[in-house]
Amino acid sequence: MDKILVIDFGGQYNQLIARRVRSEHVYAEIAAYNKIDCKKIVEEGYKGIIFTGGPNSVYDEKSPHFDPEILNLGIPVLGICYGHQLMAYMAGGKVGSAESSSEYGKTTVFFEESPLFDGTPAESICWMSHTDFVSDLPEGFKIIAHSSKCGCAAMSCDERKLYGVQFHPEVTHSVYGQNMLRNFVTKICKCKLDWNMDDYAATTIEKYKKELAGKKVLLGLSGGVDSSVAAVLLSKAIGDNLVCVFVDHGLLRKNEGDFVEETFKGHFGINMVRVNAGPRFLGKLAGVLEPEAKRKIIGAEFVRVFEEESGKLGKFDYLAQGTIYPDVVESGNGNSAVIKSHHNVGGLPEDIGFSGVVEPLRYLFKDEVRALGEKLGLPHELVYRQPFPGPGLAVRITGEITEEKIKMVQDADAIFREEMANGHCDKMASQYFAVLADVRSVGVMGDFRTYGYTIILRSVTTDDFMTAEWTRLPFEVLEKASNRITNEVKGITRVAYDISSKPPATVEWL
Ligand code: XMP
Repeated sequence: MDKILVIDFGGQYNQLIARRVRSEHVYAEIAAYNKIDCKKIVEEGYKGIIFTGGPNSVYDEKSPHFDPEILNLGIPVLGICYGHQLMAYMAGGKVGSAESSSEYGKTTVFFEESPLFDGTPAESICWMSHTDFVSDLPEGFKIIAHSSKCGCAAMSCDERKLYGVQFHPEVTHSVYGQNMLRNFVTKICKCKLDWNMDDYAATTIEKYKKELAGKKVLLGLSGGVDSSVAAVLLSKAIGDNLVCVFVDHGLLRKNEGDFVEETFKGHFGINMVRVNAGPRFLGKLAGVLEPEAKRKIIGAEFVRVFEEESGKLGKFDYLAQGTIYPDVVESGNGNSAVIKSHHNVGGLPEDIGFSGVVEPLRYLFKDEVRALGEKLGLPHELVYRQPFPGPGLAVRITGEITEEKIKMVQDADAIFREEMANGHCDKMASQYFAVLADVRSVGVMGDFRTYGYTIILRSVTTDDFMTAEWTRLPFEVLEKASNRITNEVKGITRVAYDISSKPPATVEWL
């Protein structure tokens, strides 16, 4: 398989670059600049290299640099922003810096003829973010784009297949950016377009058939996207030698435990053990009011239940986990072996006698995991489900957690989700759910006075969950959900809609 190396110089878009390349069906992987060298690059047989942006200036003492020999390997290189300046500097050019020439945001760029810009019009909008700029071209290079402030918005040395762009082609604000990345990987690096989820599924299943023949593998299944896709993939490779343990802590959404069981055990015939530990968790949570204490109790209890149950199932050779590529990159820039904690509920023990960890999704981005899940036949609703916190409804019930409150929040949440779908609003929100506030208020039902709990509906729209906007839902959807919740969920008198954004609020209430 042909592959592109993205060398990370600390830019905020490093993962985005790799994703954009992969969306052209060319495999790309990321390595930190200080964790790779020319020898390894040649050994790995990369067909092209991309230098990312970064926050530094090439003349800063601490700025990341690379062995200039990389430009002489005969492998095409594309430098982006800082990577472009670094390439100019490494090749003998000069970089200047002046506040007056800084550009930030959408900028009109004028393009010359270049294989990099095939299909790009003579002028087009690109995303700029820089103060430094290439002031003197290295020998053998020419300018292939400029803007009103930046004389060298792009440069190239076609003979050596070296290209640099001051703007960011990987962000969607650069209108023809994807086109440029496509030109780089297909026309300049001449990569074969052989990265797709059909092949990935087939080759990974084959690989594990061989590597795990006769071995027993344990997987903690949460019902979330990653562990679900990992489970189906591995079961196709090793069948009943894969055992999935699904700890139902009783704090899942309405009917979710049954859905998970039906999907994996029923539909896929996976060797799955469901542990109904609801009462045990509830017992531990009795009288606990403090949010962090709730999380800690659930995390610790989860590990205990998992250990006990897997202990009963005999000896396992490997522990399988749904680690995905961003976890690997974020924790070690692509080079360290990372064990992801099990859906954040405390982490699984590392020393319960496994001889290794199996991570079938270790090279995939989330959107690729979803595509793979669909190829493997997982239900669409599971593959595209909204995120759900490991501690479950415990972070959506304020005050003491009781069976009665869990039922109320489950029912209200199910109604809200139904009404979001009925009103075609489920696609406009990134995450939406019900919260049960431990606040009681007076209501009236028929001729009777009631004194019930309050449900808060929460819906947010976000790209990365680091910041989030409350979703501007139509009143009709809120009205229907509110009417149904107060009518159908016993014990609820009032429904409110949360209009706080993150920050200062968080997405979850606890
Ligand atoms: P917050 O509340 O921090 O949530 O704004 C951001 C995203 O993270 C999810 N979340 C969690 N996920 N374990 C998880 O697996 C947790 O303890 C947890 N807390 C929050 C939340 O649902 C949202 O998507």
